[in-house]
Amino acid sequence: MTASKPMRDLIASRRAVLGGLVGAPLLSFAGCASSESQSALRFASIPETNADTITLPPGYSWRTLIAWGDALFDTLTAPFDPDTLTRAEQEQRFGSHNDMLAWFPTTPTFPQPRSAARMILCVNNEYVSLELAYPSIRDPSTITPAQVEALYAAIGVSVVDLEQGAEGWRIVRGAAPGAGHNRRITPFTPVLFSGPAADHPWIIAAAARSNAAEPDRGDSVPGAVRCGTVANCAGGQTPWGTYLTAEENFEEVFAGSDSLNLTDNAYALDATSFGYVATALPEALVPRQFSLRENPHGPALYGWIVEIDPYDPRSAPKKRTALGRKKAECATTALTRDNRVAVYSGDDQRNEHVYKFITRGRFDPHLRANNMELLDDGALYAAQFHEDGRGRWLHLTTEAANAAAEAIESPIRFRDQADLLMRVREAARLLGATPMDRPEDIEAVCDTNWRGLGPVLIACTNNSEQGFERPGNPRRDSANPARAQSNAAGHVLRIDEDDGDCAALNFSWDIFAMGGDPDATTLTAPTRVGAPAHVSTTIDGVSPNTGARFACPDNLLVDSAQRIWIATDGNDNVFANCNDSVLVTESRTAAPRTLKRFLVGPLGAEICGPMMAPDERAFFCAIQHPGANDVRGVPYSQTRWTGAPPPSNFPDGGQSWPRSAVVVVTRNDGGRIGD
Ligand code: FEO
Ligand code: CA
Ligand code: CA
Repeated sequence: MTASKPMRDLIASRRAVLGGLVGAPLLSFAGCASSESQSALRFASIPETNADTITLPPGYSWRTLIAWGDALFDTLTAPFDPDTLTRAEQEQRFGSHNDMLAWFPTTPTFPQPRSAARMILCVNNEYVSLELAYPSIRDPSTITPAQVEALYAAIGVSVVDLEQGAEGWRIVRGAAPGAGHNRRITPFTPVLFSGPAADHPWIIAAAARSNAAEPDRGDSVPGAVRCGTVANCAGGQTPWGTYLTAEENFEEVFAGSDSLNLTDNAYALDATSFGYVATALPEALVPRQFSLRENPHGPALYGWIVEIDPYDPRSAPKKRTALGRKKAECATTALTRDNRVAVYSGDDQRNEHVYKFITRGRFDPHLRANNMELLDDGALYAAQFHEDGRGRWLHLTTEAANAAAEAIESPIRFRDQADLLMRVREAARLLGATPMDRPEDIEAVCDTNWRGLGPVLIACTNNSEQGFERPGNPRRDSANPARAQSNAAGHVLRIDEDDGDCAALNFSWDIFAMGGDPDATTLTAPTRVGAPAHVSTTIDGVSPNTGARFACPDNLLVDSAQRIWIATDGNDNVFANCNDSVLVTESRTAAPRTLKRFLVGPLGAEICGPMMAPDERAFFCAIQHPGANDVRGVPYSQTRWTGAPPPSNFPDGGQSWPRSAVVVVTRNDGGRIGD
């Protein structure tokens, strides 16, 4: 069994199949189940900017919907003060570093309504950074364990009711926790593990340590582990009205050494696979369950897809182990033709894989209760891309993975499916899954009944590994291959499931959009991150996209007219004179498609979670970690402790401390966004 070629090599060898899908409309009009209005993008693409604000086309306006520390409940009357933050307070305030957004109608409804005066917004809060917390701390060595614990409570998920007031969408505070839908889920919240790996010995061992470290506050349910959720990046939602959130860089909440030499090899294995590093925080400062010395199997509790019922603020989130453990990035659902549920997920690390899970059971549109455990039973696949533009989904079973290991005389073995799901990356690799350029968000094009129509887009944000060997590679520096960055600008990959059915086990693939500069006059451009980046968007003389340049696609949104919205994370590393942005292009036309720049975010922020209101007359996105770097690209972590002011004052302006925030964008004439 030979491992398949990395995606970056495949891009280089596209000669044979160019003129296939790369030029084709994503979906022909005939294939559309709905008769949506025209998809033309009539706004003027905005210029690049480093402004420390939200920049929009003429005729559009933005407001802050909610920001880190805003109260979710009326019980909190004091204004947010990041310097005096306590855990108890943060557990009732909006979390930090917001990423994925999803809205739900106020009662579960299938399919989702196309207009609403109220909705429930679910937002995940990916991580926290010490340099963006506690403004008055001058010396990081003075931070206390209580301060770190309070900051950890800003991680997780925030659920908040929204309503449309006279001034547009606004948050609705709950009277008190448990009243209404508002809630915080933190790294301390009781959660349930379900599915084949729920009783994996590493989970059992870590659960005991976590529960010993975190007292039962009377909110536990039988069998729950008080480990909450961390590192939630992109996510998804199910047709039955639950929120899916994906645990990505979970190693960052742990502190300590990776040289513990556990007899079951658990930690050493994870160190190899997940690249654990000691955090900047000493072990003595983190909550006990996040000390690797005290909870060596702790990382086994994370890296899962978590399902949350937004309608019941007392329900325990469920970690769905059947979907595998990885640096999970998104969990996008689409119904198959026979009403099973396909869940697409990326694994965002260099040279990791793309996954698809297909439930055994079928979605019941009439009785929600029949769907609530669908994600515990099904088949998990990893994608293998072939050079001829075709690909297949590899079924990840214990038998197949062990046979593949045996065939290459690898010592790796999987005891059972639980063991495979815990170490799913290894199984995918053994079976020949294709190493990818950091797959982030995935979006399936669906009809109005959540049925996948076949096209699926995958944001491959970048791959910083250097060097190419193949002549003709579009990501190659011909003059100086050794200095080339393999794929610093990233691309958006397209797959088309066979027969237009997300249950298919074979697909075609091509490049939907190339990160870079369609107007570049040189193959590479200097960047502020070291080696020059290959910025040409042409593949053998053809560019799939024209118009605005961009780099590092992270999150995607497909609107009702199948226009593709792309949010970036790291654009300014490649194109220094433009902060991270949101771009949009049509997909029903043939390539080359024009990309327009719709929104530029504030300094040092990545843009996440693009989301449309039910009637598409409001656009929401998450502004994550404003001020994380300055206009020169210098991380604030390098200047904070010298007394430098934060590089951003977003969203409150003046000399205010920066806060991650969700913003809402509307058209001044009230029209549909993008038209
Ligand atoms: Fe949290 Fe892969 O972005
Ligand atoms: Ca992401
Ligand atoms: Ca990101």
